[in-house]
Amino acid sequence: MFVLLNLKAYDCDPVAIAEVAQEVSEDSGTRIAVAPQSARLESVADTGVETWAQHVSPVDHGSHTGSALAESAAAAGASGTLLNHSEKRRRLADIDGGLQAAERAGLETVVCANNREQCKAVAALGPEAVAIEPPALIGGQQSVSTADPDVVTEAVKAVDEIDDSIPVLCGAGISTGEDVESARGLGASGVLLASGVAKADEPESILQDLVAPIS
Ligand code: G3P
Repeated sequence: MFVLLNLKAYDCDPVAIAEVAQEVSEDSGTRIAVAPQSARLESVADTGVETWAQHVSPVDHGSHTGSALAESAAAAGASGTLLNHSEKRRRLADIDGGLQAAERAGLETVVCANNREQCKAVAALGPEAVAIEPPALIGGQQSVSTADPDVVTEAVKAVDEIDDSIPVLCGAGISTGEDVESARGLGASGVLLASGVAKADEPESILQDLVAPIS
């Protein structure tokens, strides 16, 4: 199982969380990546943790003021990027452009989707993985794997119909080892999470509990 920790724009110390995530990853043997704000990519990558961008723009080098150039994320130490997160929704053409930019820069990709139809559409673009995240459950107290398990199983089926080599991750409300275990039981190959760790007083104990059933 892959644990992708999206720090969004939460008021947290990305380096301290990265150091903890790397320690838990090494101790447990669980793959954990951290996606900080782009300005903190390099300092997070310097901790040795697997580091991801939260988004890259569908552009190449050139006059693109304010863009998030994939090559810059890679140069800062990112090895992957999220695309089309529900808080950074893109048009299908721009998701495709973002995938091409990520591929050009050597970044692994997880493309987010709200429902099974969107899962099929983005899977057709050929990402390394698709993440199902029902927006209504994001940031909440109930995890997608318990509040709406069918959305996970439907997403896995939908992506399998397009390309059964593309793994499906799930996110929204994930915060415990039980949530992760349930997600795996529903066919997910990983989880995305944010507030359960970014807003925690003790991120290390949250992460240790999170990976306990899968390590
Ligand atoms: O990218 C993962 C994120 O959207 C999930 O948020 O706070 O429900 O873990 P959260």
